[in-house]
Amino acid sequence: MLDGKKIVLGVTGGIAAYKAVEVASRLRQAGAEVHVIMTRAAKEFVTELTFREISGQPVASDMWAPVTHWNVAHIALANLADAFLIAPATANLLAKAAHGIADDMLTTTLLATPAPLFFAPAMNSRMYGHPATQQNIATLRSRGAHIIEPATGHLACGTDGPGRLPEPAVLVKALDDFFRPEKTLAGKNVLVTAAGTVEPIDPVRYIGNRSSGRMGYAIAAEAAARGAAVTLVSGPSSLTPPEGLKRFVPVETAAQMREAVLAVFPAIDIVIKAAAVADYRPMTVAPNKIKKDAGEITLRLEKNPDILRELGQRKQPGQILVGFAAETENLLAYAQSKLEKKNLDFIVANDVTKPGAGFNTETNLAKLIARNGTVEEFPLLSKRELAARLLDRITEKNKAEL
Ligand code: CTP
Repeated sequence: MLDGKKIVLGVTGGIAAYKAVEVASRLRQAGAEVHVIMTRAAKEFVTELTFREISGQPVASDMWAPVTHWNVAHIALANLADAFLIAPATANLLAKAAHGIADDMLTTTLLATPAPLFFAPAMNSRMYGHPATQQNIATLRSRGAHIIEPATGHLACGTDGPGRLPEPAVLVKALDDFFRPEKTLAGKNVLVTAAGTVEPIDPVRYIGNRSSGRMGYAIAAEAAARGAAVTLVSGPSSLTPPEGLKRFVPVETAAQMREAVLAVFPAIDIVIKAAAVADYRPMTVAPNKIKKDAGEITLRLEKNPDILRELGQRKQPGQILVGFAAETENLLAYAQSKLEKKNLDFIVANDVTKPGAGFNTETNLAKLIARNGTVEEFPLLSKRELAARLLDRITEKNKAEL
């Protein structure tokens, strides 16, 4: 959920500041863009350099440092943040934030941001339990801030009690949960096909295509995040299947994909066929490796079944079929005719000649054509973002049937 999110990580001066290094690292590994703001006291515990290296971004701390090529003025970070995480949040920081005191880069930015705030208090148990701190936490909560409760255990000051900064994974999960979309597809069975099929020529060679599976995997991940029971039928792909799937069915050929798809289809509410199915396969598969001393060879190809077309014929009321059309010319006309021929409800059309669109890219440029002829054009988006927009539309336009 954190992929592409801009997270501002505020680090204050507590012994747990070292754990914030791992928080920054995990956020970045999850795909977030991390901007760190340190207080003066935080720099007594961890160097700015550490956070700069881990986040890959300049670290902001001094209000009065000259603004360089990258605008680290507090207002810039306040505006760009999708969320703020203050970890560790000292008693002092909580007090200032609760009372609107703005006397350094972090507190000033906190006052200026409209982004959701997450505070992870960490301090000595008595300081944490002090009515002043508790009241400050209650004030922040009443304004909508999220408080990540401290863990209980051994504290650096030699005592035991509440006040430990939770493990970095817990902090990252709190943000991840926040960005998790609403379970708009709960109770729905979604079938996604992804990647290209491969059609064997002999035991070591095949006919394949350039599809990486990224678009289909992004759709499966997004549908699962929205609560759907997702079956992902995938041709060979180097990607790791997303978490939270109901079923992952790896296949190689179009015939295997057809079998896997037809087996589950009757129980499916929404089918999204992002796979690049090979239209042809060799008529015969050589039982042994073809040797080159055979000289010139001719491969005879026969047509593969059109899986989507078959689904279109079997479709029952309430089932939604979404196809993909990768084209190099006459995008809309070709896509629209596929929608009709295959009896689809939607078709996602992309012109694979456009930069950033199509195979093996992280982004895609697509149009969504509905059965009634309406066309929605999306800007260049990450495949995950596009998946989210497509699912928004597909579910919204079919609320009645869903
Ligand atoms: N598709 C399928 N089975 C096939 C071929 C394609 O299910 N044998 C699906 C793809 O998963 C995709 C859609 O059909 O969702 C469009 O595929 P495409 O190959 O572009 O369609 P064709 O009708 O084969 O069009 P053409 O070859 O004329 O471009």
